[in-house]
Amino acid sequence: MGRLLPKAELHVHIEGTLEPELVVGLARRNGVTLPADGVDGLRARYRFEGLQSFLDVLNANMAVLRTERDFYDMTLGYLRRARDNGVRRAEIFFDLQAHLARGVPMDAVFDGLAAAVADGERELGVSAALLLCIVRDRGPEEAERVLREAIRRHRDRFIGIGLASAELGHPPSLFREVYAIAAAEGLRRTVHAGEEGPPGYVREALDLLGAERIDHGIRAMEDPDLVARLRAERVPLTVCPLSNVRLGIVPSLREHPLPAMLRANLMVTVNSDNPAYVGGYAEDNYRALRDELGLDPTTLATIAANSFDAAFLDPETRARFQ
Ligand code: ADE
Ligand code: ZN
Repeated sequence: MGRLLPKAELHVHIEGTLEPELVVGLARRNGVTLPADGVDGLRARYRFEGLQSFLDVLNANMAVLRTERDFYDMTLGYLRRARDNGVRRAEIFFDLQAHLARGVPMDAVFDGLAAAVADGERELGVSAALLLCIVRDRGPEEAERVLREAIRRHRDRFIGIGLASAELGHPPSLFREVYAIAAAEGLRRTVHAGEEGPPGYVREALDLLGAERIDHGIRAMEDPDLVARLRAERVPLTVCPLSNVRLGIVPSLREHPLPAMLRANLMVTVNSDNPAYVGGYAEDNYRALRDELGLDPTTLATIAANSFDAAFLDPETRARFQ
């Protein structure tokens, strides 16, 4: 464990860290009926054909999250596994709207997540922070309302916002007002773009939403002018190789654009996205790049250094890492 590369994880959805054993345990604790029986039954459903088929399974399993304690257990469990993967800093997305839609009180979500973040720092030595992730297919009006409410009641508990879920048909341009509210509050801004969506969505994220990072961004490689811009502006891209393969976004790791992104001198970071569903945590992604794509130790160290540079940290805190 001691020889793992220290790294920051900048793209992880806390709901995507719910291991099947915990899904089953929470279902029992909360009297929730699952769409499949037991751990093996759940795992049998983890065959995805694109983003939507994954989101359907993710959302079904999320139904087990009901109480503050559930959010706490899920998050501390993730932070333990992250620490064991060499993660020193984690910036964690949470799907607040999805939980509110099931009738979970906003306070239960924030209280559980924030308590785990605090305990994770103290007990595990992992620096962690929360990113409220807008559920784009629920539309901009709800997003705006929920963000305003979260700011009013829990502003000090999250450092920024993201935009995720079904990408196609839900372009960044719809969320201009949401991102303007976040910017005015001093919240950091990142956007999922160019995972399934076209390069134009990446441009919109930068130009219309003021995105400071792009989550995924792999389809930017289809547009040479955009690649040149991402390089010139040193825009961090939070790439998730194992996730892309498991969700069927790219056919295999060998065909993943990550090596081409590195050759283009883009600011690439490597992340797990939804580690309980896609076959691995942060170090598993780094290891796959080494073993299956032959990335050398220097390149992997550069990726890890990028992850700290791209983290939403002030320079003084940044200096404490690596
Ligand atoms: N929500 C959880 N994982 C996601 C992903 N890879 N893309 C979009 N939304 C997500
Ligand atoms: Zn994601």
